[in-house]
Amino acid sequence: MTATTQILRDYLERLESELPFGKKEKREILLEAEDHLIEDAQRDEASGMDASEAERRATRRFGEPQALARRFAEERAPAIELRGVTKRFLTPAGTAYTALRDLDLSVHVGEFCAVVGPTGCGKSTTLALISGLEPPSEGEVLLDGEPVTGVSRAVGYVFQVDAVFPWKNVLDNVATGPRLRGVDRAQANRLAQDWIGRVGLTGFERYYPHQLSGGMRKRAALAQTLINEPRILLMDEPFSALDVQTRTLMENELLQLWSATKSSVVFVTHDLEEAIALADRVVVITAGPGTVKGTYRVDLPRPRNVSEIRFHPEFALIYQEIWNDLRDEVLVSYERSKRIVS
Ligand SMILES: Nc1ncnc2c1ncn2[C@@H]1O[C@H](COP(=O)(O)OP(=O)(O)O)[C@@H](O)[C@H]1O
Ligand SMILES: [Mg+2]
Repeated sequence: MTATTQILRDYLERLESELPFGKKEKREILLEAEDHLIEDAQRDEASGMDASEAERRATRRFGEPQALARRFAEERAPAIELRGVTKRFLTPAGTAYTALRDLDLSVHVGEFCAVVGPTGCGKSTTLALISGLEPPSEGEVLLDGEPVTGVSRAVGYVFQVDAVFPWKNVLDNVATGPRLRGVDRAQANRLAQDWIGRVGLTGFERYYPHQLSGGMRKRAALAQTLINEPRILLMDEPFSALDVQTRTLMENELLQLWSATKSSVVFVTHDLEEAIALADRVVVITAGPGTVKGTYRVDLPRPRNVSEIRFHPEFALIYQEIWNDLRDEVLVSYERSKRIVS
């Protein structure tokens, strides 16, 4: 193997680990990328170019593997798409209440998207629509380009309040998904054990939820969801009930787990700092009826440590920009809530 071949191989391996796709799609993309790279390399070698120059040329032409992977992801159909979605609920008084109006949102394959907005703006409703738990009143909701017709197995959901079963211990809770899919108990337990390890709960398999701290219950809930390897992960203010230290730990762990799976994430929070620290993109929703007020790209480097990324000089700039949009919506929502109380 020549030095250039080795460089190509390294490049493609790095690209492979960054691509947020399934095996088959990855193979297609890698073969295509390889063709281009080999053509270039042959030309370079024929011209007697040395190895390091060849690598510099490959990187210049294709960019960093991470950037190239992102480009591939953005060229595909979005993993999640809401087009002109309006959602009305029937109130107990029998009138219609519009929770969302004309909302457009799309999330690329492997993208981490955070949704922020004041209380009651329709964040949870948005997730309910994506998950298929609720149908839109108008507009379309698509997953991988296909209309959502019901609850999909591709979707995992983590709520603010843990959805772990109180009567099951950690092992049985985490093994629930595989058991429901028909995996036999021994194999389901092995998988569960593995995920319990990944979320740092080894040794607590036999504990029941009430015997765990809030942070540990959250870890169990994460393992219970991630064991199903959802391509789409919906999270509804999952860490808002945790103390600050535990929360930071959990956010970092989530980023680690996500970077290994490359699922597409919609993470709902009312905390702008959390949104920026975690996401590739932040979407601001207006005070109800919710619609998209602005979308911001967060180009902070990864892998990130959420407690350190806050001190990145770009962070404050991004925060300022988004807060300018969000502040007005929070004020509107706050004024309304005062009117209701008084
Ligand atoms: N099933 C429902 N029936 C009637 N109204 C609902 C229902 N679900 C949500 N709403 C209303 O829709 C609005 C948006 O709710 P939600 O999506 O939970 O907001 P958020 O998560 O942003 O706080 C709220 O005013 C809420 O009361
Ligand atoms: Mg909510």
